[in-house]
Amino acid sequence: MEVLANTGVNDILYNYNSLKELEERYGSSFYILNVNKLRENYRKIEHAFKSKYNEFIIGYSYKTNYVPFLCKELAMLGAHAEVVSRLEYDLAIKIGVDPRNIIFNGPLKNKNDIVFALENKSKINIDSIYETDFVKEYSENNPSKQIKVGLRVNFDLSEDGVSPLVEGHEISRFGICYENGDLHSVIDKLHSVKNIQIVGLHGHFSTSHRKVETFRRITQVLCKIAKETNLTNLEYIDVGGGIFGEVPKILIENTPSFDDYAEAICSIMDHEFGHYKKRPNLILEPGISMVANTFEFVAKVIETKRIKDKNFVLVDGSVHNIKPTMHKKNLPMKIVRQNEDKNKTSENFNIVGYTCLEKDYLAYNFNEKIPQINDYVIFENVGAYTIVFNPSFIKEKPAIIANDNYEIFLVRKNNK
Ligand SMILES: Cc1ncc(COP(=O)(O)O)c(C=O)c1O
Repeated sequence: MEVLANTGVNDILYNYNSLKELEERYGSSFYILNVNKLRENYRKIEHAFKSKYNEFIIGYSYKTNYVPFLCKELAMLGAHAEVVSRLEYDLAIKIGVDPRNIIFNGPLKNKNDIVFALENKSKINIDSIYETDFVKEYSENNPSKQIKVGLRVNFDLSEDGVSPLVEGHEISRFGICYENGDLHSVIDKLHSVKNIQIVGLHGHFSTSHRKVETFRRITQVLCKIAKETNLTNLEYIDVGGGIFGEVPKILIENTPSFDDYAEAICSIMDHEFGHYKKRPNLILEPGISMVANTFEFVAKVIETKRIKDKNFVLVDGSVHNIKPTMHKKNLPMKIVRQNEDKNKTSENFNIVGYTCLEKDYLAYNFNEKIPQINDYVIFENVGAYTIVFNPSFIKEKPAIIANDNYEIFLVRKNNK
């Protein structure tokens, strides 16, 4: 671990000379992971839920950002790993996660993956009926083993006929349908094999508004199904991910707190299972809420130019580095200038990237003093669904450095 400097965190990061020093080491664009912020997010989520329902587990959603250093840090704090592919599963094993603490979700698992996860005693949530054949076959071939699986349930989440799902989807394509009877058939099919136990129900839904009410309903329906189908071996209710974290006001105002979600979910769990001798675990699979605000992206200003009446600031970075979905909202940003020119006034400008794509805008219509060549722009809140979506398109992927209290060190070199 390489220690760069031992001064205050903000001095290191937001001071021109320090950024220049980091640039000399790591290149003219790089990510900074704030390790303390990550720990803080973990502890806040954990405290909100555990204080209300003790049998609570965080299954960190790897797909959101699977930089090994970050996953390892979360594992050390106690997070389980929520994975949706063999690639993510193998990474969890590699960084030392106990396979029993891996939650294997996702629509695509081949026979080999399922056998491997069953042998490892990971939690598998079956997403589609084809997976049940692999589980059945394995269980029948291993009659002396007790095989435990969970089921991802698909049910109608609409409120007053309106679906809360992202991008206006009326129904979700994931999980096994409750309404058309498939879920009951799958339960019967699995229960027809003596050594199979259904130990978990999972219900993740990606919704636009991430409302507390949606989580209340997910928890209620999962509990109702557990009772109705008489799952006597229930070990967990998994309400998926999709809660808001601490979102900067410039992006969205007035989002629910961790406590708000925890109150809604845990009160139902407590009501349903409070009297049980062994209460089932409650699993939450946070992604965005755990990591979005833990990363910043630093990009050096390469050129400032005027085309007709518009100003363009070209940086050594791309929209792919900060907003792979290319949404048009500006992220919170800081500009670290080489020279403060007090006589300059604010002007309107766009920040654009190094690719050859016309749409490569990192920020639109920003009003500030225009940054100058060699200044740095720092984009905040870029920890979720960025690094995992980042192609080596035109240029190598930027380095990732970590800031842990007063130490700055490299966690990923820039690479192809
Ligand atoms: C099964 C599952 N769990 C957890 C998550 C994490 O969701 P978020 O990043 O919104 O918390 C997702 C994201 O799509 C998911 O599909």
